[in-house]
Amino acid sequence: MTPDSGERDWYAKAGVRRDPRRLLRDELHTGQLYFPPALVPYGGHPLVRALPAGTQEALAARHLFQYLGFTTHFETQVVNRATHRIATGGSGVDSTAGTRLDAFRIYCDEGYHALYSFDVIRQISDASGIEPVPYDFTPFRERLDSIGSKALPGQPVLAQLLQVVVFETLVTAILNDVPKDGRVLGVVRQIVRDHARDEGWHHAFFSGFFRELWAQQPPSQRVRVARCLPGLIRSSLLPDLRPVRAALAIAGLSAAQVEDVVRDSYPRAESERGMRAAARHALRLFEETGVLAVDGARDAFHAAGLLTGSKGDGS
Ligand SMILES: [Fe+2]
Ligand SMILES: [Fe+2]
Repeated sequence: MTPDSGERDWYAKAGVRRDPRRLLRDELHTGQLYFPPALVPYGGHPLVRALPAGTQEALAARHLFQYLGFTTHFETQVVNRATHRIATGGSGVDSTAGTRLDAFRIYCDEGYHALYSFDVIRQISDASGIEPVPYDFTPFRERLDSIGSKALPGQPVLAQLLQVVVFETLVTAILNDVPKDGRVLGVVRQIVRDHARDEGWHHAFFSGFFRELWAQQPPSQRVRVARCLPGLIRSSLLPDLRPVRAALAIAGLSAAQVEDVVRDSYPRAESERGMRAAARHALRLFEETGVLAVDGARDAFHAAGLLTGSKGDGS
């Protein structure tokens, strides 16, 4: 994609250029929800329903804060780590000046997504009196980085680029469903809608960038890249239960009750189904570019639960 391709006028259409600051209206006491109930898997569990109403409300608010806090860290520490490499010509992939200029635009977009995610946590926390649970992003990032360093030893930049290709081509239920849910706080729906608009364009950019990256890899490297991707997708998409456990414990559940709620609310088959649905565009990209045709790749994607049906049937 070149800056003059006309596919998107960033200066007029990017959220950071166009959207106003989104503000919490006087909605906290009108029954509006923090998050769609279907996206809070433990919200309907009997042990959670037995908690006082105010505690259940705090759990829902903290689920939203967790999503926004994760976004704040992820955009700045993971997406922009790799986007900075592309923008400054240090990615190891031979890119045009147009691609680098677009990467600088994405860098601005992601910084703005982090800014308003943090802004809305603060606005809602100040108005509701519900404090976010302290969140340490480091274990998540280290787990992601360890997958790359095992599959691509000595090539941390390539692993970081692949992390971002995977994340930026995922289709999450949150970006799709939150803006449409009229029960949710307006400010939350607005920022998720703003974010989803930018991400549609990022998806196109990173799909194109991956095609360039893949075309430039020698055959031996392609095998390593193809075998690295399933682990990256899994670690990106399976629910991170550490903050869920922390929020349930703060709500007053015992350690045994926390484990009961987590086990009942995140059945493995459901998590795996959600992972495949969110990864469907990434999987199509890897099918189209020939990643799945590399020796051993289809088996690795099967073993990671990303392809269903019998091996070799392409489903
Ligand atoms: Fe973003
Ligand atoms: Fe993005």
